[in-house]
Formats: sequence, C-alpha cells, structure tokens
Amino acid sequence: MVEKPSIIVVGVGGFGKNHVRVLAELGGLGGVCDIVEERASTYGKLYNVPYYGNVSDIPEGAYDGAIVSTPTSTHKDVAMELALKKVGYLFIEKPFTQTVKEAIELINFLKKKNVKTMVGFIERFNPAIRMVKKYIEEEALGEIIMASATRVRRWPERVTDSGVLLDTAIHDVDLMRYLFSEDPIKVYAKTGKSMHRIHEDYATIILTFSSGKMAIINANWLTPYKIRRLEVIGSEGVVEADLVTQQVTLSSKNDRITPFSEWSEPLRHELKYFLNCIVNNENPIPGEEDAVRALKIIEASLKSSEVGNSVEIYT
Ligand SMILES: NC(=O)c1ccc[n+]([C@@H]2O[C@H](COP(=O)([O-])OP(=O)(O)OC[C@H]3O[C@@H](n4cnc5c(N)ncnc54)[C@H](O)[C@@H]3O)[C@@H](O)[C@H]2O)c1
Repeated sequence: MVEKPSIIVVGVGGFGKNHVRVLAELGGLGGVCDIVEERASTYGKLYNVPYYGNVSDIPEGAYDGAIVSTPTSTHKDVAMELALKKVGYLFIEKPFTQTVKEAIELINFLKKKNVKTMVGFIERFNPAIRMVKKYIEEEALGEIIMASATRVRRWPERVTDSGVLLDTAIHDVDLMRYLFSEDPIKVYAKTGKSMHRIHEDYATIILTFSSGKMAIINANWLTPYKIRRLEVIGSEGVVEADLVTQQVTLSSKNDRITPFSEWSEPLRHELKYFLNCIVNNENPIPGEEDAVRALKIIEASLKSSEVGNSVEIYT
C-alpha cells in the first residue's frame, strides 16, 4: 500500500504548471518533465524535485503516478512510455486522446500493463457542479427535462491539435453524461471557423437521450469575455450554475435561493481524489470508459456538422 504517493507531472506548460503547484500543496509532487528543458528545470528547482527533459529519462519504478499534461496529440505516446516506466496510475488530461481509435489502442495497452487511468474532466470536481448533482439526486428539480451549457472566451490560435469541440465543449459533453447518468443516443451539431485557421472555433451541439431528455452545448473561442454556465431544467424547478464564480441558484415556482458556498479550486479536489485513489488502490472515476464515451460524442458532433444531419451515437 502506498501511503504518500509520489507523482510526476509530464508537460509543465500552460496548464501543467497548475498541476505542479497544486500537487506540491498536497504533498504529492515527486518530479517534473518537459521537453523544453528550461521549463523542467525551472519547476524542478522551484519545488526542489527531480526534473527530466524527456519521458525516456524518468527512472523505472520511481513514481506511483503521473499527470500527462502535454499537448493532446502526444498523450497516447507519452502515456504508453510512462506505463513502460512502471507508473501504476495515470491521470491523462482531457480530452484524453485526439480520436476514439487512439483512445482504444491506449486503453488496451494500459490494461495489459495493469495501469489505472483517470481522465481530467475537471468540472466534475467543481463545487458548483457537485451542488447541481446533489439537487438532481435529491429530486429538487422534479423530473429532469433538459440542460444547457455555455463555455466561451476569446482565444488566439493556441491549440493547433484540436478544435473547440474536442478541446472545450468536451467538458460539457462529459457533464451532461454525468448529470443525467445517461448516454446520449443522437447528436445534431453545427460548427464554424471564424478567426482560427485549422479547426472550428464555434459550435452548437444538441444531444438527445433515450429518456427524452435533451442537452444544448454552446462553445466558442470568439466571445471577448469568459462565460462558463450551466442550467438544468426540471418539472419542478431550475438550477443555474456559474462554473467560474461557483454561484448556484435554485428556483422553483415560489422560491429562488442562492446558497452561500465558499469558492474552492476544482483542480485541488480533483488531484486530492486522484491521490486518494492511489492510497486506497481504487479505480479512479472519471476513467477511460468516460473518456471514450465523450470522444465518441465529439466525433459524432463533427460528423453531424459535416453532413448537415443528426448522427446516431453508438456505445
Ligand atoms: N482540465 C483543464 O481544464 C485543462 C485546461 C487547459 C489544458 N488542458 C489540457 O492539458 C494539456 C496541455 O495543455 P496546455 O494548454 O498546458 O498546453 P501547453 O502547450 O501550454 O503545454 C504543454 C507542455 O508539454 C510540453 N511537452 C510537449 N511534448 C512533450 C513530451 N513529449 N514530453 C514532455 N513534455 C512535452 C511542452 O513543452 C509544453 O511545456 C492538453 O491536453 C489540454 O487539453 C486541460
């Protein structure tokens, strides 16, 4: 049994440096790795942990877990190499891989190596989402009818291996599955490209579920300010959540309440959970199956936009 897991963060760029900071706060940071050696050495020295310029330099058996926060196009190769280094737990940043095919190849490989895998769908650990989930489970909204999510902000061309669907909307795709405890069966999507050269930078998805529920997801990299909002509508009430401020409002026919809850960092909850899974030898959730399901929905959305019709999503 591992009492105090030692984790290496691979990829200490824009988001990886947050993993480094939070893991250090939680006492789980054991090393850093980045192909830009200066980045690796900066964080290694700052937190007084070993640093490496390449995954191949990481000693075998040195780490209980690893965070893969390199660009999405590299996740599969980096994760496989970490498994060969006998890292038992991998936390692979969303969207896991670029395609369903890659995800399945990676999962089959990791299973053979007995590696337990978590995917970085961080919003499940957002306190606002936890409150929304609680209201749904307590049936405070009555029967759930539909949900809508908006995730927009202005981004210059930054991510070149993914469009707004794979990079951004996937957070809300996962949230809809999580909140409804159900997989969608069909998607209709429209996407477009305005400022970005390679991939779509705005998209709207409509998901339908066999229970009759529906979900609408809007995402773009064009709106000059940041909005991350979710609304769930039920037969007896509505819950609205601001995923940035974490403010949640529950409205029913006669009442409207905004319970106070102190803001706390979703990444801290997420990584604390990952560390606990290692200590307790548990399979983390969301895991590889959640990643594949979300990727299938994204691929079906891209297809829908291409053909101009709704597309069935096979499980
Ligand atoms: N959960 C979230 O909310 C969230 C937010 C942002 C990004 N992400 C995800 O995190 C991942 C990284 O995104 P980012 O914005 O930090 O990218 P980034 O380009 O800013 O950083 C990636 C880092 O990985 C390094 N790198 C590249 N290939 C490497 C390799 N083979 N081995 C070691 N290091 C390597 C790069 O030098 C760079 O420092 C992406 O998968 C992205 O989808 C998740």
